[in-house]
Amino acid sequence: MTRPVLRVKDLRLSYPARGASGVVHAVRGVDIQVAAGEVVALVGESGCGKSSLARAILQLRRPDTGHVLLEGPDGTLPLHQLTGGALRRARRWIQGVFQDPYASLDPRMSIGDTVAEPLRAFGLASGTTSRERVAALLERVGLGAALATRFPHELSGGQRQRVGIARALASEPRVVVLDEAVSALDVSLRAQVLNLLLDLRRDLDLAMLFITHDLAVVRALADRVAVMYLGELVEIATRDALLQTPRHPYTRALLDAVPVPDPVLQAARVSRPLGGEPPSQERVPKGCAFASRCPVAEERCASERPTMRTVGGSAVSCHLA
Ligand SMILES: Nc1ncnc2c1ncn2[C@@H]1O[C@H](COP(=O)(O)OP(=O)(O)O)[C@@H](O)[C@H]1O
Ligand code: SF4
Ligand SMILES: [Mg+2]
Repeated sequence: MTRPVLRVKDLRLSYPARGASGVVHAVRGVDIQVAAGEVVALVGESGCGKSSLARAILQLRRPDTGHVLLEGPDGTLPLHQLTGGALRRARRWIQGVFQDPYASLDPRMSIGDTVAEPLRAFGLASGTTSRERVAALLERVGLGAALATRFPHELSGGQRQRVGIARALASEPRVVVLDEAVSALDVSLRAQVLNLLLDLRRDLDLAMLFITHDLAVVRALADRVAVMYLGELVEIATRDALLQTPRHPYTRALLDAVPVPDPVLQAARVSRPLGGEPPSQERVPKGCAFASRCPVAEERCASERPTMRTVGGSAVSCHLA
């Protein structure tokens, strides 16, 4: 792997528990790196902490502890330490795209002004230059430049998501974090937006952290895949290794839960599907977090916490891997 452009080290994020006095441990010590031109998919059940990890990386919610290091043009930017103007300037290099483009677009702002906003905010372009850049960005994401004068409510969901991507790309970031960015789109629109992202990755050497619950998207897009369970990464592997030789019992259960017409995948499946609920993030188990649902758990799994090890090129956190 080339030098990572994003390095996340032992990142932790917790929230005050609603109502009670406890703490929700949403992200519990995540290490992950993304290289320029690389797409890393992050998968895991709803509630496992994917969006929390995205927010902590983007500093939309400050992590409790841990490091988020971004390679900027003039050296390493420790995002977790930056505040005020320094953090605002650093955001030029790392951008987010979220599931619901409607919620993140200002209904009173024209599409042109929306995409131009980062150009203005980062002092990159104004006037005619800005309008030309906006036109080029709208063309780049497959929307005509004529759309610049329209407003969000006049656009379809797919068009709005492209506007969100154009805006995220306006400042020429090195890293884009996409949180379920294509999940709300129908199948054909999703394919179009995925193709667009693949083109952008190739042309711009973008690093992408791509959060999705859709394994078809993982197949189409990911170079590597990180699997999250109860706030921790339990397996990180290349896409092919993960799909063909899943090493963590939770990864196998996840693959098992989706019907995929693929004999290789089929053969890798565990016989028992994933049942039950994950434990509460307010009372994280002492041993392996997956022990209560793991079909192959042993006695020590309840008391000994497994750590990440390299097994056949994959990183996996399981005593039996
Ligand atoms: N603002 C918040 N306050 C309290 N708990 C939260 C907040 N946001 C998320 N959580 C909790 O943190 C955990 C992880 O949530 P989230 O990161 O949204 O997971 P995912 O994106 O994987 O579905 C869940 O238990 C969720 O209920
Ligand atoms: S450590 Fe034990 S409980 Fe955890 S995934 Fe491995 S076998 Fe299952
Ligand atoms: Mg989420």
